[in-house]
Amino acid sequence: MSSPDPDARAADLDCTVAVGSLSLRSAVMTASGTAGHGTEFGDFMDLSALGAMVVKSLAAQPWEGNPTPRLRPTAKGMLNSIGLQGPGVMAWSRDQLPGLMAAGVTTVVSIWGRTVEEYREAAELIAEHGHGVVAIEVNLSCPNLEGGRHLFAHDPELAAEVIRATDVAGLPRWAKLSANTDRLVDVSAAVATAGAEAVTLINTLLAMVIDTERAQPALGAGGGGLSGPAIHPVAVRAVYEVHAALPDLPIVGVGGIDSAETAVEMLMAGASAVQVGTATFRDPAAPEKIRLGLEQWCRSHDVHAVAELKGIAHV
Ligand SMILES: Cc1cc2nc3c(=O)[nH]c(=O)nc-3n(C[C@H](O)[C@H](O)[C@H](O)COP(=O)(O)O)c2cc1C
Repeated sequence: MSSPDPDARAADLDCTVAVGSLSLRSAVMTASGTAGHGTEFGDFMDLSALGAMVVKSLAAQPWEGNPTPRLRPTAKGMLNSIGLQGPGVMAWSRDQLPGLMAAGVTTVVSIWGRTVEEYREAAELIAEHGHGVVAIEVNLSCPNLEGGRHLFAHDPELAAEVIRATDVAGLPRWAKLSANTDRLVDVSAAVATAGAEAVTLINTLLAMVIDTERAQPALGAGGGGLSGPAIHPVAVRAVYEVHAALPDLPIVGVGGIDSAETAVEMLMAGASAVQVGTATFRDPAAPEKIRLGLEQWCRSHDVHAVAELKGIAHV
């Protein structure tokens, strides 16, 4: 990489990146839960040009989610407690997947569960009905009903057990982890040993807003998950530390990416690819704009392959 030169134009730019065994056409994807279950955002961008669309987390069964209100703006971010509302894997495969396939969208399905068995069940249903899906992102930021409601993502052994259980899907799995723990590196190592091809870092941070007029938490569920630019430095550090400890483990970086620069930062910290979440609430075309902006950034910095950026901030 040479110093910035806005006039420089690379003869050509290789935009493809590898995440484990998958080769993606772009480093930029949508983040689970922020761009719908199907082609809802197809009017705002060319979904097929993204690295992948990561579908909102699905359980084996339909799930209603949390009581309202579920969203609240915060300083430089957003608090949500959607609670993983979704139609379940089978209804999604019937109603949404055909549209995604017809539109040529590289589709990654996120799954969740409340027990190891529920994760296995969701993975089995994807194996049976998820024709065309290229990978599964296993959302481990869920309370374990059999273990005092501790999050799967905070316990290396339990997280690894879920990854082993979801092997039945016969697809590459990415473990989506939480930075609400000081055991992130241990959990990353455990899921990698258990078979995850990559880790997705990070999910929202535990947070709360109090409505002072009602003297009650502002969200119906009480607490929620903080996302957006406010959490970007936390996500960058998580990616940096996991990449430093486990340099061979592919990382998908997510958290507050809202521009080409914030995407580049995440790649330099050690991510192979990135996801755009909350930025999509402000501008539904954000993932496409960031994809094109990243290409422009590479051209103006004499970068010939986006993959060259991975981890270069490490000395
Ligand atoms: C409204 C909303 C819903 C979300 N739903 C999910 C979900 O279903 N599964 C999941 O793994 N992450 C979910 N997330 C977390 C995002 O995928 C992402 O990890 C997080 O928001 C940080 O990225 P961002 O700051 O770009 O939004 C959700 C986030 C938001 C804001």
